[in-house]
This record gives sequence, C-alpha cells and structure tokens, in this order.
Amino acid sequence: MSLVDLLPALTLAEKASLLSGDGDWWTQAVPRLGLPAVELGDGPHGLRTETGVDMVWVPSTCFPTLSALAATWDRDLVREVGAALGAEAAAMGVHLVLGPGVNIKRTPLCGRNFEYPSEDPWLTGDVAVAYVTGVQSAGVGACVKHFAANNQETERTRISVEVDERTLRELYLVAFERVVHDAEPWALMCSYNRIGGTYASAHRWLLTTVLREEWGYEGVVVSDWDAVHDKVATVRAGLDLEMPGTQGRTDAQVVAAVQAGTLDEADVDRAARRVLHLVDRARPGAGVVRASGHRPGDELTADQLTMLDADAHHELARRAATASLTLVRNSGVLPLDPDGSDRVALIGGYARLPRIQGGGSAGVRPTRVDTPLEAMRAALGDRLDFAEGYPVGETDYYQEQAPAALPSAGQLADEAVALAARADVTVAVVGLPLAADSEAADRSDLALPADQVALLTRLAALDVPLVVVVQAGSAVTMDPWHDGAAAVLLTGLAGQGVGGALADVLLGAADPGGRLTETYPLALDDTPGVVGFPGERGHVVYGEGVFVGYRWYDVLDRAVRYPFGYGLSYTSFAYDDLQLDVLDAAAGRVRCAVTVTNIGTRRGSDVVQVYVGDPSSAVHRPVRELKGYAKVALEPGGSTRVAVDLTGRDFSYVDAVCGRWRREGGQFVVSVGSSSRDLRASAVIELPDDPDPTLPRLVRDDAVPTEAVPWAVGTDGPVRAGAPAT
Ligand code: GLC
Repeated sequence: MSLVDLLPALTLAEKASLLSGDGDWWTQAVPRLGLPAVELGDGPHGLRTETGVDMVWVPSTCFPTLSALAATWDRDLVREVGAALGAEAAAMGVHLVLGPGVNIKRTPLCGRNFEYPSEDPWLTGDVAVAYVTGVQSAGVGACVKHFAANNQETERTRISVEVDERTLRELYLVAFERVVHDAEPWALMCSYNRIGGTYASAHRWLLTTVLREEWGYEGVVVSDWDAVHDKVATVRAGLDLEMPGTQGRTDAQVVAAVQAGTLDEADVDRAARRVLHLVDRARPGAGVVRASGHRPGDELTADQLTMLDADAHHELARRAATASLTLVRNSGVLPLDPDGSDRVALIGGYARLPRIQGGGSAGVRPTRVDTPLEAMRAALGDRLDFAEGYPVGETDYYQEQAPAALPSAGQLADEAVALAARADVTVAVVGLPLAADSEAADRSDLALPADQVALLTRLAALDVPLVVVVQAGSAVTMDPWHDGAAAVLLTGLAGQGVGGALADVLLGAADPGGRLTETYPLALDDTPGVVGFPGERGHVVYGEGVFVGYRWYDVLDRAVRYPFGYGLSYTSFAYDDLQLDVLDAAAGRVRCAVTVTNIGTRRGSDVVQVYVGDPSSAVHRPVRELKGYAKVALEPGGSTRVAVDLTGRDFSYVDAVCGRWRREGGQFVVSVGSSSRDLRASAVIELPDDPDPTLPRLVRDDAVPTEAVPWAVGTDGPVRAGAPAT
C-alpha cells in the first residue's frame, strides 16, 4: 500500500500540517494513521546532522564542493561521490539530502559560488544529473536548489531579479529542467529571492506553469528556510512543503482559508499528496512513527556512525580532489622530483590549515583532514621547510581556534621570504578566507587577502621558482605576482582529501585532471553584471541577458586570465580528423567525432569540449556554447576516437516572442577544443528550421514590435504583446 492512499482519511487540519515541517529538519508525522516523518539534511558536499543535547555536528566525509567536483568534468566520479554521500545520509537516517545547488555563477562575487558547478548551464545540468543519480542510487532523495535565479547573496531574501524570459529559460532554468528530466530528483527547493516582483515561493508561473505543466515534474517543492511570506499564496502557486515548521501557525492559515472559500481544498490535497509521496518513497524505518521527529536528545547509534565507511570515503574524497585540481600555468617546474635533492620551501598557513569548504549551511565536520603540510612532509622528509607566511585569522569548521599569539604579518612574511631565498623551489599555498566563500554574503572584490598578495609579490621577485597554489571557491585576480610565478595550481575548495591530492599532483604521482568551469577574468571590471551588481532599491537587473561567463567575454572578444574549460596536463594532446555526421536533419541530431592522441611523454587526461555557434542567427546569440564533452586518459602515444552526440536542443535558442525553444535553420559551426578559447578544429553544417508545427512563425528580423518581447516574468508569467495586463 502506498502512503498516498492515506490522503482520503486525513482531516483538513492533518493535510494542512503536512504542508509545513516539524521543527528544522523533519516533515510532520500523523501518528493517528501511522504516517512517519522523514528527515531532511544539508548539504551538497557532505552530511551535516546534529546530535546530542548540545547539537554537536556528527562527523561526515567532507567531499570536494560542487564547484571543485564539477572541475573534474568526470560524470562517473561525480556520480560515485553522490552515491557515497547518499550512503552516509542513509546511515545517519537522513532521507532527503539538501543538494545540489545548481545556480549559475552570474558573477564571481557571489559568496555561494563554491556550492555551484559552473557559469555554463549545460555543464551545470550535466553535473547535477550525475550527482542526483548518485545520491538517489543509495535510496535517499536529492533536493535540487535554489529554484530559481539565486545568483547573489546580497539581500537574497528580498531582492527581485528582473530578467527577460529568454535569459531565464535559456540560462537560469536549463540545469533544473535537465535534472528534472534526466534524474527525477525527489525534491526541488525554491529560492528566497523574488522574480519579476514575486517571491519564488509564491511564483505560480515558475512552480506550476513551467515546473509542472511544461516539464511534468511530480516531486515535492520545498521552500528554502523561512522563504514563505504568504502561506496561502504559496499553496495556490504550487509550493508543497514550507520549512522549517511554524508550530502550526501557518497550518491554521491554510485551514481558515479553505473554510473561508479563499483557498481551494484541491490545492491543499495536491500538496499533501506530494508530501505523502515523498514519505512513501523515503520509507523511514518500517513502522517507525516519530510522534515528534528528531529532537536534540536523540543520539545516533554507534553503528550508524561506523556505517560511514570513513576510510573508503576519505580515499574517494582524495581521488575526487586530485581529479579536480586545475593546473593553469606551468613553466616546466612541475611536477617536482619526488626523489631529487632540491630543497622545497612550503609557505602559507593554508598549507597547515587548508581551506576545504565554504561557510554557511553547506558546512560539515570532516571525519579527518589531509593537510598539504603533512602530505608534503611525508613525501619529502627533511627536504621540506615550512613557514606560516601570513596570518590565518579564520577558522574552518574543523579547525581548532587559530593560535592566539602569532607574530605580525610583516614578521611572518619576512621569515617566509628568508626561507624561500634559501630553497631551490617555493610552493606558496594561498586562498580566500572562509568569510569570502560563504552563504549570506558576497565579495566586494576579486582579490586575495592583501597580506597574501604582498607576500606572493615578494616571493615572485626572488630567483627561486615559485609555485602558487590557490584555494578559493570562485575566481580571484592574480596581479601583480602572476607573471613572476613559474606555476599556478587551483584547488578550489576540494574537501578533506586536498592535502594528499596536492602532494600527488605536485610530485607527479597524478596528472592534474581539472578544467575551469568558470572564467578567471583579469579584473572585476571585465565581468558581466558588474555595473548593476548587487542591484538597488530591491531590484537587480540582468541586463547582460544570456551573455554570462565566457559568453560575455567571447562576444566582446575580451582578454581573460584563464578561459572557461582551460587546464593543463603534464602531457599534451593532438586532435585530428574532426567529423560531423548529420544523423537526423529534421530532429537536429548530429554526431561529432574526433581523434585525440597523447603526444607527450607522460600519462595524462584531457577534456575534449564541443561548442556550437550559430553565426547566421537572426537574434543575438553567444559566439559559442558548450554542448558536450568527453574526458579521456591516455598513455604516451595512445590515441582514442571520441564521439559526442548533439541533439536538436543543442542548436536551439529560446524565441523571445513565444518563450519556446526552437532551432532557426541555417549554418552552424561545431568546434572541438581543449578550452573555450583553444579550439583545435571546427566544421560547418547546415540544418533546417525546427519542424515543430506548434511553433509560431519564426520572426527572422528585428521588425518584431518591441512590446512583443516580455521583459518581466511575474507570477502570471511573461507579459506578452497584446495580452491584457494582469
Ligand atoms: C539555507 C540555504 C539552503 C539550505 C537551507 C537549510 O538558508 O539557503 O541552501 O539547504 O537553508 O539549511
């Protein structure tokens, strides 16, 4: 019997109680009918559950954050991490993991960028599908967030995002649509912000028209915590579960509205049915009926803790970190010789206390942490010397309080420079403090802390090769030290295995497998949206439209520090014999194949990226857009032929007049490259107009009356030409 069958037996008050949580982390049980509650738990890169009267965080594996995990460009690995995270959730008794976050990195200033995969919607969707499939393979649910257009933390609980429908659908909704169709997440979480003036939690066009009627989604929509402002309006709009619970306050509002005839009971039944379906698929401990849900006094059992399989998951976290490390500059100084006699100066407090995660609700208490200092000392012994280099003020969730009495920043720097001057090579580990990679706040610039910049500048001036390791959850600027560095390696926020991963890559035991999932600009002023960020008087206007990330820099042909998709291996690859085969012209199905050869002397991996351009389009489109990729690992001299199948959607854009995806016939440029700006081969194909007969006539010129393009997307959806203003 499905628990959904209980619906007819529930009273109105009981149905209303299902529409909000029981406390912070549970759905509401109905003991009278034997309906159990299920537990929800953060977060995307590790499980955070509290136990005991002092609400101690239970240790769990701190995997690479989603931005680092995405940098692996390895679906199988992302899925494997998802499955391990799901297994830890199941062991902890958590039924719904509150992740992944799939919001687009509209600006590198966003404090939560560490939680999000990319500036590109296609890659974001691909990572989300792998992650959700992995988590749900463990029998627990994933809750994809934050739906939608939550791209900044400044005023996140009230800011109204003013974005045109084409941009919203083509850029900010794509990853949600992809994961809904390809991974069927148990839940989505609506965002805090408003869109077109309406809160996402009460946005009927978003939660019902698009999500249910267009995409056919049947899972639960959960609010972000305290994101409900008008409970009855949210039920009408299609929100199912308000979190956290309100001790019955808003349940009573629902009952009163139904009794007053201002809320249709069918809307309540629809939401209650979805919550029952969630509980049914979670199937918490057979027969376990938590009358009151999880309370601080409930201790986790010892076997629940041992079921974490901590050692195996730690190795997975290290393997994922290794695959995510992104080498962006190398004069040849790397890899270091593990058996040589060179003296290595390891500089930086973040080598001793690495930056492994960001701040806020995604925080976890790791089961252990590999630090770069320990890993490098284990590998190099007395060849290694260490100096703090700069003050480490912040503490991460795992760190004991930073030592109180540190020497001054100047003294720390002087000691580090003196040590480096005596070395044969210097490895400086720097990064952003926890506060700069955190929920609820954005950065105001892209610089590393001033102490670190000053130190790097002094180290770069020495005639000792300098390797800079950057631990940051989003792009940082690198002047003035960059050109004086012999190598730059980006770790992102790579979780508890980062120390071992760093030693593996620095000493050549592993090839750096990462590729950038966001552009590293030369300066903040070059970035999209910088002029209007973070908005004013409660509104932020996405005036750059679809031109976000590399789409922006490419359409302006603007120089960048490092482009989207970029990353170096310790070997090099040749691409030959690009071939495009049109498998079905009407459907727009095209196969893109290319041969990749390792032409270097070491085993290594590369990510073959496929970009599509539509230069003859009647509308402004990005120069090229990522529509597929394949990761290959090859021995020296080895080669393989990779094939990526493109679909009709991959050639399409959202027609601003009708708000639907469509392909405009004409010539398309398909390119394969090792980054968005290192295109190794391109070919042109011709495809016909989209054959969908339900599409309105394609308007090819800009004679479209200006009022035909809806610029606001309120709760009643885009305002189209001629439609009565609502
Ligand atoms: C937070 C976050 C969300 C998180 C939730 C529960 O405000 O926005 O990502 O899952 O609340 O902690």
